[in-house]
Parts: sequence; structure tokens; C-alpha cells
Amino acid sequence: MALDPVSSIGTAMNSRGDEQAVRTERSPRDPAAIRSMATDPESERVRREWISVATRHGYSYNFSWLGVPIIQHPEDVVIIQELIWSTQPDLVIETGIAHGGSLILSASILKLLGGEREVLGVDVDIRSHARSMLSSHPLAESISTIEGDSIAPAVIEQVARVCSRHERVMVILDSNHTCDHVAAELSLYGDFVSIGSYLVAMDTVIRDLPPEAFGDRPWSPANNPWTAVTNFLDADDRFVAAADVNERLLATAAPGGYLIRVR
Ligand SMILES: C[S@@+](CC[C@H](N)C(=O)[O-])C[C@H]1O[C@@H](n2cnc3c(N)ncnc32)[C@H](O)[C@@H]1O
Repeated sequence: MALDPVSSIGTAMNSRGDEQAVRTERSPRDPAAIRSMATDPESERVRREWISVATRHGYSYNFSWLGVPIIQHPEDVVIIQELIWSTQPDLVIETGIAHGGSLILSASILKLLGGEREVLGVDVDIRSHARSMLSSHPLAESISTIEGDSIAPAVIEQVARVCSRHERVMVILDSNHTCDHVAAELSLYGDFVSIGSYLVAMDTVIRDLPPEAFGDRPWSPANNPWTAVTNFLDADDRFVAAADVNERLLATAAPGGYLIRVR
């Protein structure tokens, strides 16, 4: 039986005994279909081609969440929504604020979950437009920020103080994407993630892009978050790659970047 992209088409007998085509909705999150996509060499080829073109045109800068620019691919926005909704953290920590869209994304899902929940953003340079947006947004009450280098001891101390008020903590790393910086973040912020929650390293896709894609940025395909993630997973058995998340993604900026704390 052939499959079309949204449904399977088979045949059934009608009341007169004639064969008729019938369409059955495909079930959501079909593991066989996901596996087939994840292991199809054509998926990988198209993904690499696509990410190269999309990055050349600044695709990740095209979107906003509740009126605020968010520098993410839509697929990552959807999956972060899923992870927050399913694990119900009471604190989401994010390094890298930029315009503030990703803080608003997390805060909006936490708000719908109800209860006392909070988002903590850390950025080395919180721009005045982001500050004034964050203080006047309807979700402002549930968002706090720390300005400073995300791996500086004084910042980590402040983050630890906020964490001590919470039980279920998720972390998203989206600041400086050099291998050393992400490695330090994984190790420092990994301690804050609670068992059963996610640790996300954004922009692992840098490994797949041409060197000229990054201009004067300190990161490059030779100095990228993916290397930090693989070293971290080798060294820290509290975390594993969240295969059920990673395998579902194709147009992500974080291939293999979704980790879960298991112990
Ligand atoms: C890609 S943007 C973040 C995008 C944001 N998460 C979003 O989804 O809209 C990266 C941010 O990281 C910040 N940053 C760079 N180096 C940093 C560091 N060492 N510590 C903290 N933040 C840093 C930059 O100032 C910038 O605002």
C-alpha cells in the first residue's frame, strides 16, 4: 500500500461488495515514520543543503513570538514548546537573550501551565530595547534577568540562588557558540537541570555550515557547540541525547543538541 504524506490510502468493501478507496489519518508521532525519516540519507543531504541556504539568507532572524523577535528556527520553537509543556518545569534558564523572544516563548508556556513558574535569562549585554520590552511585556512578572558572562563565577552564584527556589529546572544554552564556552556552560548549567528535564545546546548546526557563514564571529565549523556536546555526553553520564526529540527534527538549528538528564 502506498503512503501519501498525510494519510495512508487503502481499500475497503462498501455495502454492495465493491472495493472502494479509503483514506485513514496517519497517527501522530508514528515511531516507524520518524525512524525512517531520521535514517534516510536523503533527509541528511537535503537538511545540509537547506541549512546552508537558510543561513546565508539569515532565516533564523525572520520570526517573532508574541510580538518579540526570536532568533530561532520555527521547528525549535515548536519543540521547546513541547518540552516545556510535557515536563512542566517551574524554572527555565536561558543563556543568550538578544531581543528577548525566547524568554517570552518560555514564559508564555509556563504561564499557561499555571502556578509559580519563572524564566531566568542571562546575557553579557542586555540591550536597552530588550530591557524595556521585558519590563513592559504582559509576561514581565515571570521573567528575571542577570547581566554578565554566563560562565562567570559571580553569575553562576546568582543563578544558583534563583535555582534554590525551584525543583524542576530546564536549561537552554544560546549565548557564545564557541566550543570552549558551550563546554563550560554544559558543565556549569548541567548541575542546575533536574532529573527528567532537558538541557538544550542551540546552534550545534554550526558544524554543518561553510566557514564563510560566520564572518568575524569567534565560532566556526572547526570551533562549534556540537563538539562540546559530544565531549560532554562522553564525560557526564547524568545526561544522554534525547533521541526521541532529536530524531523528529529536520529544519533545526540544534541537531543532536537536545539532551535529557537521566540521573
Ligand atoms: C543568538 S543570540 C540569543 C537569541 C535568543 N536566545 C533568541 O532565541 O531570541 C545570542 C546572545 O548571546 C549573548 N552572549 C554572547 N556571549 C555571551 C556570554 N559570554 N554570556 C552571556 N551571553 C552572551 C549575546 O549578547 C546575544 O544576545
